[in-house]
Amino acid sequence: MQTYAEISALREQIKQYKKDGHSIALVPTMGNLHEGHLNLVKKAHEQADIVIVSIFVNPLQFDNSDDLNRYPRTLEADINKLEQTGATLVFTPTPDTMYPQGMDKQTFIDVPGLSSILEGAARPGHFRGVTTIVGKLFNIIQPDVACFGEKDYQQLAIIRQMVTDLCMDITIINVPTAREIDGLAMSSRNSRLSIDDRQRAPAISRTMRWVCSALRGGRRDFASLVEDAQDQLRAADIEPDEIHIRDAKTLEPVAETSTQAVILMSAYLGDVRLIDNQVIDLNSEPKKEAAATDLE
Ligand code: PAF
Repeated sequence: MQTYAEISALREQIKQYKKDGHSIALVPTMGNLHEGHLNLVKKAHEQADIVIVSIFVNPLQFDNSDDLNRYPRTLEADINKLEQTGATLVFTPTPDTMYPQGMDKQTFIDVPGLSSILEGAARPGHFRGVTTIVGKLFNIIQPDVACFGEKDYQQLAIIRQMVTDLCMDITIINVPTAREIDGLAMSSRNSRLSIDDRQRAPAISRTMRWVCSALRGGRRDFASLVEDAQDQLRAADIEPDEIHIRDAKTLEPVAETSTQAVILMSAYLGDVRLIDNQVIDLNSEPKKEAAATDLE
């Protein structure tokens, strides 16, 4: 597995891959890799001959410098994991490489509608940072496909919108959320949980499943359902942050015409904010887990 930190050298290598007729899959990450990321790499292998993983803790998408500084950086361990999973190449640029003019003078990519609601309303500028870095990585690497996790449901919807709006010739593949045995969605942030908080954390996915079964059972009183879910989290000693039940495609409030809803949850355990989501069919007896494919 090769490691590149410079854009020009990487571009030369990519030209060679293309000349040799290879297809390229990109898995953008911020490192601190867990099984969820490795599932993205495995999925990427099914899609293309060459799998490039980028590891870059993108300062532009952090609204809080403490969060940026605390973000775990585990490059050596990440590279070992990628070697075992069989990535072809790892791209590990520095902030100066990605933002040579500084971030203030950087051209942005913004997907205004989807980026300003839900997570975007709570974290202004966050999704603009994500779409800008993902757009830059797409321009540098020119992949045929790029793989993203369904855990960041809104991020996935925004990236799909960006690719459509900017006519990018890249297929976006979504990969189901990897979960611990007790249901907790895998996340780099889980490593920051105290032992007690880690034990409490599965209540998030439990509560989400409870909301799903309430919806399947026919409940449509969304506001009180959200309140009930908040109560369940508090009962488990977890501080609810945002809970939304939205149309799974538009992320707007569920309407008469909505066929699927997505439950989007965020909650605090100490100062660690965790997110999770699940998609549910509203019309039939569904058994589908996060069907972000329907965003396609
Ligand atoms: O999901 C992430 O890890 C990041 O938002 C991404 C897509 C790598 C962009 O920095």
